[in-house]
Amino acid sequence: MSVVTAVGEALHWAVRDSLIRYVTDIARGTYSVDGGATEGEGGVIAFPLRAAHREGEDWRMSFQGSVRFLAHHGHLDILIKDPEVVVGPNGGVLATHTVDDPNELLAVVAIGAGDPTGSDASLVWHGLATQLAPSAVDLFGTVYPAGTEMAPIGIRIALDS
Ligand code: HEM
Repeated sequence: MSVVTAVGEALHWAVRDSLIRYVTDIARGTYSVDGGATEGEGGVIAFPLRAAHREGEDWRMSFQGSVRFLAHHGHLDILIKDPEVVVGPNGGVLATHTVDDPNELLAVVAIGAGDPTGSDASLVWHGLATQLAPSAVDLFGTVYPAGTEMAPIGIRIALDS
């Protein structure tokens, strides 16, 4: 395992644009960020980096904070909390802790392959494509089939050089 580690920065993800519009405009529900996550332009949520390390060609990263969508008197309750991400030249995955079992990790989206750009001081993955994982179809009320395109992911990490 590589000893390269990261010291800061964040994951940027809007989950899915049409979901944000549906929850807020159509279902008249809410979404809220917590635990250090912040909301930026266009519903893009920043989850601060907790830890990252390289394993071969892959990066494994833990982020902190949550976004929770609530509507239909709690029947719609979608939580993305403390995301765990793997990215690499052969693709990756974003997993979340769940409402039902905080210890469980649920794969939410498959992440398309992507190489970072950057320098000795930082690495950036820009606009990584995502597709809904089969395991997360129930999380979104079985409305989106597995493979549905979700919002692209951006990651920036500062390296401990
Ligand atoms: C209480 C009963 C519910 C009603 C009446 C309802 C109604 C609707 C309607 C009318 C749409 C289509 C919106 C549009 O595109 O114009 C929709 C979409 C959707 N619903 Fe529901 N819904 C209900 C419960 C739920 C629950 C419990 C969930 C999740 C657990 C859910 C998740 C979704 C999602 C993810 C979409 C797609 C949003 C998008 O990306 O466009 N709904 N619903």
